[in-house]
Amino acid sequence: MMRDPLLPGSVVAALPGASLQKACRFLVVFCALHLSITLIYYVSERELNIFQYFTEHHYSTSSSSPLAASTVQSTTRPHSTTAKEMVELLDCPETSPLLVGPLRIEFSHPVDLEEVKKNNPNVREGGRYKPKDCNARQKVALIIPFRKRDEHLKYWLLYLHPMLQKQQLDYGVYVINQDGDSTFNRAKLLNIGYVESLKEYDYNCFVFSDVDLIPMDDKNIYKCSSQPRHLSVSMDKFGFGLPYNQYFGGVSALSKEQFEKINGFPNSYWGWGGEDDDIYNRIVSRGMSISRPDAVTGKCRMIRHDRDAKNDPNPQRFDLIAHTRHTMNSDGINSLSYKVVKTEKYPLYTKITVDVGASPR
Ligand code: BGC
Repeated sequence: MMRDPLLPGSVVAALPGASLQKACRFLVVFCALHLSITLIYYVSERELNIFQYFTEHHYSTSSSSPLAASTVQSTTRPHSTTAKEMVELLDCPETSPLLVGPLRIEFSHPVDLEEVKKNNPNVREGGRYKPKDCNARQKVALIIPFRKRDEHLKYWLLYLHPMLQKQQLDYGVYVINQDGDSTFNRAKLLNIGYVESLKEYDYNCFVFSDVDLIPMDDKNIYKCSSQPRHLSVSMDKFGFGLPYNQYFGGVSALSKEQFEKINGFPNSYWGWGGEDDDIYNRIVSRGMSISRPDAVTGKCRMIRHDRDAKNDPNPQRFDLIAHTRHTMNSDGINSLSYKVVKTEKYPLYTKITVDVGASPR
């Protein structure tokens, strides 16, 4: 006689098939264990997905009024791509099939932002968008240095949102607003846009655009290339050409890697002029070259305006440009200091108001 260890009290005859019986019992217990572990795993996975869905949905619909801004902390929750989205979507095509070519650009009519919002229903709060049916090839932060140019910004939003969507970009629009009335500092605002946009999302391409420049062809892709790219190559202001070969002003695109390689942009150019030439010098001195669209694709219009207050030509600029190679290692993203005064999320853009300090002169 023998006692079965799995059934206390039961008595099993010592038959020749006893070891087979034991093996079968072991197998049953093993299978039950396996099944319960699989079940636990499945249930916890589902809970995680539901949680993810809830937090994302809540985040993207937090604005009540379509044009009201919600002030948020500068560390907002990044929008994460769910594993499901990554698996199911194919990369967007190299060339978007939605492009049409030349665009009609004019500045004679007033712009109603409510209308612009209605016409761009897929743009999310803060001016964020990504294609629904394919994975965008680049994550682009559009950075606009700004102060008191609301009318220009409206045209920019009117024309650029539809174009950027047709270009199938995963993008966000950041208006970096210089607080107060001290001398304007365009390049420092661009550096701040770089840092602040990265706090929100893992952008890998940065398009730096003046608020008054509108492309005239949607095939001028607002994306980064293997070399830093100059996009406003054919401006009406300059008779649809470059004012000089080294010109890098207006609209430019640098990948994260390219931007870091040149230590970002200079912080020391106060007032109008020179900072774009300094950026050009930085690029060339790091062994890179400028890539550009052709002069037809690169056509763009500038909104005419008077010179802004506190943005007079900087008399120091020629001296500064002559020394870029010596100053660029210590003046740039590694020496950037500023204070965020306020971050506002509007339906079509994120506005970050910053205190950049004042010119030492
Ligand atoms: C200035 C640049 C400016 C260019 C075209 C140059 O003299 O240094 O900053 O973009 O002129 O206006």
